[in-house]
Formats: sequence, C-alpha cells, structure tokens
Amino acid sequence: MSSDIDTAHGDIYGIGQWGSGLVTILENGHIGLCHPFDPDSTPTDLRHIVENLQQRGITTPVLLRVTDFLKYRIDEINQQFSLAIKELGYQGRYQGVFPIKVNQQAEVIDRIAEYGHEYRFGFEVGSKAELLIALSLDLHAETAIICNGIKDSEFLELAIMSLQLGFNTFIVLESPRELELVLDAVSGTDIRPQLGMRIKLTNTVSGKWADSSGDRSTFGLTIAQIMDVVNRLKQTGYLDCLILQHSHLGSQVPQIIEIRKAAQEACQFFTELRREGVPLRYLDLGGGLGVDYTGEHTASANSINYTLQEYCLNIVETVKDIMDENDMPHPVIVTESGRACVAQSSMLVFNVLDATHYDSDKKVIAAEDDHPLLLKMLDIQSYLTKDRIQECWNDMKYYRDEARALFRRNQISLAMTARIEQAYLYMMNHIKALLKASDNTTEDVQQALFQLADIYHCNFSLFQSLPDIWAIDQIHPIAPLQRLDEPAERYAILSDITCDSDGKIDQFILSDGLSSILPVHDLNEQDDYYIGVFFIGAYQETLGDLHNLFGDTNVVTIGLLEEGGFEIIKEQDGDTIHEVLSYVEYEPKRLINAFKAIVESAVKKGRLSPAERRRMIKCYTDSMNGYTYFEHQES
Ligand SMILES: Cc1ncc(COP(=O)(O)O)c(C=O)c1O
Repeated sequence: MSSDIDTAHGDIYGIGQWGSGLVTILENGHIGLCHPFDPDSTPTDLRHIVENLQQRGITTPVLLRVTDFLKYRIDEINQQFSLAIKELGYQGRYQGVFPIKVNQQAEVIDRIAEYGHEYRFGFEVGSKAELLIALSLDLHAETAIICNGIKDSEFLELAIMSLQLGFNTFIVLESPRELELVLDAVSGTDIRPQLGMRIKLTNTVSGKWADSSGDRSTFGLTIAQIMDVVNRLKQTGYLDCLILQHSHLGSQVPQIIEIRKAAQEACQFFTELRREGVPLRYLDLGGGLGVDYTGEHTASANSINYTLQEYCLNIVETVKDIMDENDMPHPVIVTESGRACVAQSSMLVFNVLDATHYDSDKKVIAAEDDHPLLLKMLDIQSYLTKDRIQECWNDMKYYRDEARALFRRNQISLAMTARIEQAYLYMMNHIKALLKASDNTTEDVQQALFQLADIYHCNFSLFQSLPDIWAIDQIHPIAPLQRLDEPAERYAILSDITCDSDGKIDQFILSDGLSSILPVHDLNEQDDYYIGVFFIGAYQETLGDLHNLFGDTNVVTIGLLEEGGFEIIKEQDGDTIHEVLSYVEYEPKRLINAFKAIVESAVKKGRLSPAERRRMIKCYTDSMNGYTYFEHQES
C-alpha cells in the first residue's frame, strides 16, 4: 500500500506533485511504481526491483523502462483526443504519430507500434535511417508514416516505393528543391505520391525551444515559397497529391494560450490553401505537448500550465471553429507528440559511491602551542548564534584563508594548517545545524546551504544518460529510492564519475520549488543508497555520448504486475569496455596483445613472476569485457 504521500516526511521531493499517479511513496519509505491501469493495486517497490536485478547480475546504473507507463500515455493521448472530438462534435478524426527521433530504441518503437495499433498511431521519421525503421514495422494500412526533415533523392525514392508496398506514407516538402526531386522520381510512372507541405508559422512560442518556432525556425517553407510550390504542383498536374499541411507548433510549449494561437495560425494557412484549390485533408500540428517535469503546473520551462485534456480540447475547438467559420470540412488532426508519449516511461537508477563532506563532527581542542588563527577560529563558538550566522561564517572563512596564505608562503606547517582546516569543518557543522533550525529561508541562507552541501559521487555519466541536464539545464525529478520515512539530514549536489567538472547535477525540484541542493540521507556501509532520476524516456538515450568512454548503461524493460511485483520483459546489457573502445577506432584484440607483450618483457627482465603475469593479463582482459561503470560491490 502507498502511504499518504503528503505526510511522508512532508514529501520533500515533491513526488505527490510530479509523480502523476505513477510514482509514489510506500509505507516502508521506499519509492513505489503504481500500476496506471489499476490505481488501487499494490504499487511495486522500486528499490526491490533494483535489488532483484542486482541479484540477477544486472547492476546499476540501470535504465528502467516501464511498458505500462508507455501504454498508458499512448492510450491517454488517443483517448483524450477522441473524447474532445466527441464532446465538441468534431466531424474529423485524430491520428497521431510518434517522432522516432525522440526515442529510437528498438524495444520502445516496437512497443509503440504494438500499443498504438488500435489507434492507427503511426511514426514521424526525420531521416533515411528512421524511415528504414518504420518500414520494418508491421503497420496497419491506415497508420501514417510522416517523412519530415531534409531529404535526398534516395530518401524520397524509399518513401515513394513504400506506397506501392501498402504503407500510408506522406512526404512533407521542406523546400521547393524537394518538390523537384519528387517530381523527378515519379515522372514517367503512374505513382501519385501523398504530399505534405511544411509551413513555417510566424507565431513564436516561449520555453526552451522557442527557436524552433517563428520566422527564423530552420525548417519549412516561407509564405512566398508556399505559393511557388502550389503553382508548380498545379502546373505539373500533381496538386491533388498535396493533402497534408504540417505546422510544427514547437516543443515543450509551457502555455496553453500559445498552443491555441499557433493552431489558429496553422488553420489560417489551411483554409487559405484550400481556397487556392489545394485539397488538404490532414492538418499536422507537430510537437509541443509538454511534460510537467516539476509538477508545478506553471508556464515555465520545465512545466506546463495545462493538462492533456485541455491540450486536446483546445486544439480540437480551435480547428473546428475556424473550419466552421470558413465553411470547410473538418480535417484529420495529426500531432507528433514525442516527449509526452515516452518521457515518463523511463528512469535511471544509480548507486552513490562516496561522499565529500564540507563539515565534520570531529572536535578540535585547542592546545598551548596552537597558531593564533586556530585559536581565533575556535573562539567563534563563543558568539555563534542564529542571529550572527553570517558574521561567524565570514570570520571562519577569513581565518581559514589567512592560514592558507601563510601556508603558501611557508610560514605555517602542514600539520597546523590541517588543524585549522579541521576546525573550520567542525565549525561548519555547527553552522549547518543552526541554519537548519532557522526558519529564515532567504536567498542568502539558501546560498550558504549550497556552499556547505556535500558532494555525493554517483555511479553514472551525465553526458551518457542525462545529456539535457548538461546541455540545456533540463530538470528531471530526482529522489532517493529509500529512507523516505526518515528525515533527510544532509544536503548534497550529485556528481557523476566522468572526470569533468560539468558532470554534476545541482538543480532539483522539491515540494517547495526549485533548489540547488538535494536533501539526502547519511550513507552507511551496510546499505547501498540508490537515487532515481525520473521521466527520462524522451531524447536522453540517443543524445547521450561517450565522454570518458562511459557507454550505454544496462537497460531493463519491465511490466508491472497488478498484484504488485514485476516481470522482466527484456534486458539489454550495457556496453562493455571493448565495445566502447571499438567505437573510437581501437581494436581490443590488438590492445590485449600489446599489453601481453609489455607484461612478457617485464617477465623476461625478471621484474614479474609468470604467476603475476597471468594475474595481470586476466585483470586486463576481464576489464576489457566488463561494464564501463563501477561494478557493484556486494555490501
Ligand atoms: C517536426 C517535429 N515533430 C515533433 C517533435 C516532437 O516534439 P515533442 O517531443 O515536444 O513532442 C519535434 C521536436 O522538436 C519536431 O521537430
């Protein structure tokens, strides 16, 4: 059973806000995953899942995909559009597509094809490789494949051929040049391609992807080019093939009003083009449906101020009203929601390896021959109160910096400098306790807490698994998987295991808003401490890179059981070191042979025994075949 989420130590991580009914806190203080199709069923303990995987040899860091979450989102998107269509008396239908670029992993795409089958939910492809994926799927004849992006003649030829195979493929023209390539490909044949036209909207939306909207967006036809394309199609006798208008509204659009305005402009083009005689039947509004990563329900970069239901109603109503005003039939509404489909279905779980503390409870007792700076530092205790925190802290920093300066000038010994540093950490401990007890939450105090925060060193690579945190300050919900029924006594930022100072997370969503530090529990030797990063199913897997040669993590796809518990649907081992080395042009066999030669020469010189040689070579080859991350040590 899940506990009352609001009362579990105040739900400091805001799980009740962002959990979307999928993630909860259990009575044992662990995070639970809820079955989306049966909210009354027993949630599955996420920590138990991780321990169970560990026992099977599937170690952290591990990317966990929950198929039920994916199916739930596909159902929701399709059903909410159906409901809106019914409620508003819309005469057309909805037909969504999933943009493959948002998560190209085979297991995810196969699931989307399966779960989307009943809705004729299709795929948007932006490259030849993505088209090849779509053409390998067993799709219903009405399921759409929408080809966006810059296309060469091979891409177009494949798309045209696919029509002959019974695929419902649309070629969206991004430029007049592409039209000429299509005309070349079909001339002399009786093939009638299904064409679309990507139109740049002048409307801009806010949020992180504002640049993908408006006049200066990189894709699509300008107003002037639209008429050129229409006239060329008329002239060549292919105007009847132009049946789809694509107008991408943006990505992670924070405000519903912006969705409405952009949809209005798209409809304006649609009705005008129909007046020009273009037989448009499909209105594709692209992406834009956001995910409430922070659960704040506000119009901000990592949140949205609308629900899925509102999004569907707003779109259907806008299209209906404008078509009715213009006395035109209602088109098929297409959207290309990527992140809203997949973001919530994946999470990354890693273990904390170690912590660096910026305080200490090891008391420093003044001795007679101690340096005056140390005595002054210790004297701060005599005036340290809640009201004088800032003053005490200023003094401590001054004495410590003075000591460091003396050390650099060889005027104080290493041993004495170490005592002063230790006294500083000990005083920090006092300051931290006072700050926590203080209900003053000013910027200054926040800043002070941040500077005192621990660094928790975690077994993952930000660049491989969470690239958007690094590249665009994306915020994902983050919480420990356990001990949520205990007060989190410490604060930390999370650092990854790459040798890059950018490899850290210092933006978190908590129940009372954004924070630069994460409340965490003290580590103990007996028990692994796991942290989960949630809602990472969109974009993260393929944008990740091999910084420091940390490769793909282990990936496990699970299904939740209604009686609680889980089943493994698929597991995919993470990259081995030899795999990542071959990605960067090394031949592992050659490396092993080179190492063998070095070891053998040491044996010849009498520096190593034959037994040591065997041990060293085994160690080298085992590493070569092992995981790129820290291998799990049984605790
Ligand atoms: C043409 C197109 N369609 C769909 C999407 C998916 O957007 P989102 O993931 O926000 O739904 C994008 C992403 O920017 C896009 O460029």
